[in-house]
Amino acid sequence: MKTHKVALIPGDGIGPEVIAEGIKVLDAVAAYDGGFSLEFTEFPWGCEHYLRTGEMMPADGIDTLSHFDAIFLGAVGYPGVPDHVSLRDLLLRIRHDFDEYVNVRPVRLLRGAPCPIKGVSQADVDMTFIRENSEGEYAGNGAWLYRGTSREVVIQDGVFSRYGTERVMRYAFELARSKHQSLTSISKGNALNYSMVFWDQIFDELSQEYADVETHSYLVDAASMLMVRDPARFQVVVASNLFGDILTDLGAAIAGGMGLAAGANLNPERVFPSMFEPVHGSAPDIAGRGIANPLATVWSASQLLDHLGHPQWGARLIDAIERLLVEAKTLTPDLGGTASTQRVGDAVVRLLAND
Ligand SMILES: NC(=O)c1ccc[n+]([C@@H]2O[C@H](COP(=O)([O-])OP(=O)(O)OC[C@H]3O[C@@H](n4cnc5c(N)ncnc54)[C@H](O)[C@@H]3O)[C@@H](O)[C@H]2O)c1
Repeated sequence: MKTHKVALIPGDGIGPEVIAEGIKVLDAVAAYDGGFSLEFTEFPWGCEHYLRTGEMMPADGIDTLSHFDAIFLGAVGYPGVPDHVSLRDLLLRIRHDFDEYVNVRPVRLLRGAPCPIKGVSQADVDMTFIRENSEGEYAGNGAWLYRGTSREVVIQDGVFSRYGTERVMRYAFELARSKHQSLTSISKGNALNYSMVFWDQIFDELSQEYADVETHSYLVDAASMLMVRDPARFQVVVASNLFGDILTDLGAAIAGGMGLAAGANLNPERVFPSMFEPVHGSAPDIAGRGIANPLATVWSASQLLDHLGHPQWGARLIDAIERLLVEAKTLTPDLGGTASTQRVGDAVVRLLAND
């Protein structure tokens, strides 16, 4: 029997609460399937670990994780630890060191999910965001000069390499081609006269090569407006690290909220493990109350199953989430219900059994 080794990093705040339900669902899937098993190893890394040890993960953390088939992460960040430390020293480090340069974030209105935009149907909101995940505005390069004086200056560089830009765009073109969908590039070439002009140029070059793929290019400000006014225009979307990060939160808002937004950080060549996580953060405002919505985590578990070679189970998990939303009996408060995190996890397992 095939055993998949999965590293768990539940993290902070609601992270452990939602990951517990993700594991519950994945264990149920493996039991129902009978042909593979999942071996989980948990790592207690995150803000508490930082407060105890001064580091978000041990020095050999990356080496430890490199022996796993995949990583399943809850959320990191908590009051008391600066966000740029918690994010950069754990999450961004894993994405960077494992060259997880593709961040796949589905923005899809599932059956039964609430949409705040009037007159929009389920078919109108079906996008796949491909966010560049290894460089761009989050490269972490810059300087802080004359710190603490009246002359202080900060410089935050954006890093756009031809290699990095081309590879993420190629991934997006291939995906659009395989799905017979259009590809939209998000830019800001009118104001960012180096990085985004370069981005546009590479998109144009690849458009010639992928002449069969319908392409569009929007400025990020126009794209934010159009995602609300006319979401049906967007199918596969490719965006830089920062623009993709922001637009997918907007996407989450039009596709049911943060409790339903999932993301996969992929190393497509599979040299390193890929990482699966809900898009949301540690939600300190509701942590410890047992009311966090675990469905984003269940959706990322579905992406994890796709990645491990079980796409039929990935699809069945999405179907179970949809039936739960349509049934509307076991939902957490963010979706208008009164159910606890655990009860939602139990309900997904029940629906999988009744498939
Ligand atoms: N991937 C990550 O680990 C990640 C992502 C974003 C933010 N963060 C960190 O998380 C912390 C809090 O950040 P924030 O408040 O800006 O964003 P957040 O996503 O944690 O919360 C934003 C709002 O959405 C709600 N929410 C989020 N997830 C929910 C869920 N599953 N169910 C119900 N409601 C949910 C929260 O209650 C809150 O009102 C910060 O430290 C931040 O740096 C981490």
